[in-house]
Amino acid sequence: MDVAKRLKKLPPYIFAEIDRKKKAAIEAGKSIINIGIGDPDRPTPKKILDFIKEAADNTANHTYPIGKGSKVFKQAVVKWMSKRFGVTVNDNEVMALIGAKDGITHLPLAFVNPGDVVLIPDPGYPGYTSGTILSGGTPYYMPLKESNGFLPDLDAIPEKVYKKAKIMHLNYPNNPTSAMADLKFYKKAIAKAKKYGFIISQDAPYSEVYFDPKDKPVSMLQIPGAKEHVIEFYSMSKTYNMTGWRVGFAVGGEKIINGLALVKENMDSGTVSALQEASARALFECEKEEKEIRDLYKKRAKIFTKGLRELGYEVIESKGTLYLWIKIPGKYTSMEFASKLLEEAGLVLTPGIGFGKSADKYVRIALTVEEPVIHQALERLKNLKF
Ligand SMILES: Cc1ncc(COP(=O)(O)O)c(C=O)c1O
Repeated sequence: MDVAKRLKKLPPYIFAEIDRKKKAAIEAGKSIINIGIGDPDRPTPKKILDFIKEAADNTANHTYPIGKGSKVFKQAVVKWMSKRFGVTVNDNEVMALIGAKDGITHLPLAFVNPGDVVLIPDPGYPGYTSGTILSGGTPYYMPLKESNGFLPDLDAIPEKVYKKAKIMHLNYPNNPTSAMADLKFYKKAIAKAKKYGFIISQDAPYSEVYFDPKDKPVSMLQIPGAKEHVIEFYSMSKTYNMTGWRVGFAVGGEKIINGLALVKENMDSGTVSALQEASARALFECEKEEKEIRDLYKKRAKIFTKGLRELGYEVIESKGTLYLWIKIPGKYTSMEFASKLLEEAGLVLTPGIGFGKSADKYVRIALTVEEPVIHQALERLKNLKF
């Protein structure tokens, strides 16, 4: 059976070679340290598990979820946006999602026609490209350069591209570079969106994983008049070690939310109600747990960065997220470097090329292993010959 043409247009799975080598190393009995995947290694906090268990007992949660989310969840999001960012939204400007990925990948189906352009950061989370291609859109990649703080140069995008653009994907705090964006940059992006009439999709699953209160991420919706052009995606996944539970939410202009809701109404039956109920509580009752998770990654980032720098690696200073973005020494491509580390040191990390063509001189490390394992990884790197 042949798959549809649209599936054939998706980019090849870039990690296949690394996956194959990883499997071979495991089968050969090698000890592998996996710092490749941005999936929290610690379990969901006990308090949230208790909320989930309580919510599971509530029979009101046993039927189909309500379209854009339960009243309890939507109101919690409304309150959270006000508490966290000082942003005022109403129930119609929020919706529950099956994680942020649900929102970013389905959004183009609501707004992109074949031939329309979607502006995508390079490097970037692969979902921006797949959602674009599956909707018949054309990706236009915006390089994120270190010299520009890993922000896209909005003035470098040609006018003819802007004119065809329907969506611009942004993602701060950024995966994989760990960069942050400020209101000045967001204002400029919104001005472009207003001029050319596109939607900005700001993907913010790492909004709560910042290392210093002074770097606490801001919301684009803090900018007056932003709503009409902006949808932001938040997630429980990284904030609360909840990747397995699949809960996120969108906040933005009502027309944008309704477009996304119409796609999803026809695709799935919503976010598990019991998880919405538990998540609504987590957003307000788990400040201690949030801080513990932040502090954990901050500590790991510090140890790993120091150790790598002592070994001579150029590491981009991480102010948040679960990642370190590292420059590759010598002449290696990112795939060659990742393969070498896997074969000679048993380290699995992510080659930059997996996030885009402009990232082939970088690799990403995920801070998802305990401290002793970080020391072990550093020890193995020390013994590596170039
Ligand atoms: C930038 C970015 N967006 C979205 C996601 C998916 O998040 P969620 O688990 O909320 O679907 C991830 C997960 O790693 C991510 O890094």
